[in-house]
Amino acid sequence: MTREGIRIHEAADFDGMRKAGEVTARILDEIADHIFVGQTTGEIDRIIEEKVTEYGTTSATIGYKGYKHASCISVNHVVCHGIPGDKKLKDGDILNIDVTVILDGWFGDSSRMYAAGNLPRKAERLIEVTHDSLMRGIEAVKPGNTFGDIGHAIQTYVEAQRMSVVRDFCGHGLGRVFHAPPNVLHYGRPGTGPVLEEGMFFTIEPMVNVGRPETKVLADDWTAVTRDKSLSAQFEHSIGVTADGCEVFTLSPGGLFHPTYKQG
Ligand code: MF3
Ligand code: CO
Ligand code: CO
Repeated sequence: MTREGIRIHEAADFDGMRKAGEVTARILDEIADHIFVGQTTGEIDRIIEEKVTEYGTTSATIGYKGYKHASCISVNHVVCHGIPGDKKLKDGDILNIDVTVILDGWFGDSSRMYAAGNLPRKAERLIEVTHDSLMRGIEAVKPGNTFGDIGHAIQTYVEAQRMSVVRDFCGHGLGRVFHAPPNVLHYGRPGTGPVLEEGMFFTIEPMVNVGRPETKVLADDWTAVTRDKSLSAQFEHSIGVTADGCEVFTLSPGGLFHPTYKQG
């Protein structure tokens, strides 16, 4: 069944998403020990690919539109879709790691922020605000509310902190497919957009910039960066709408979704 082109899932489908989401979250928990000054993003991705296999899952990103890696790793002013490579992390770098696995046909998609070494205060504040904006978006999820309510919750919070919400990328429906309707915008007006219903599965994945919201994609056709070179952060959960709110499928088993950072 669908509503306005958005699939309505059944109780048994929540089990599938719970299992896929848990593996994604475990991998993101376990990778934390492998982030340090001097480490390359390519090595981090290699470890992630190994773990995807160890858990008996498949990477959703390898082979997706020609993408070749098990993760996207977006450092500093990279907004999203950073390609892992041989560049070494430096002291004070912030990075988003985004992993999507497929288990029994279900997609688990999540990303978080990590840090190398000690963080400048500004970077830590950006991470804090981005994390909290996702949580405010999630709090707006319940049957009867709209997708515009989610975007509005995120946008008003971020802009009150004098930071900006990226418009060029959005969250998405998912389930037995990676990207499905609707586009989940991280900005908007209350009461607009499709009405949320029990059984809808989607991601919320706000990207927040310290400076202006505009982005551009580099010549590699993937890497999106802030036009003004300002720092950018992102957090992503996969969730399902329940009778009275939502279930987060990608909760961290170790409670590491929002890590604590060493202050520079
Ligand atoms: N995981 C990303 C998302 O949140 C999509 C990455 S697609 C890739 O939707 F090809 F760049 F890996
Ligand atoms: Co996503
Ligand atoms: Co993702």
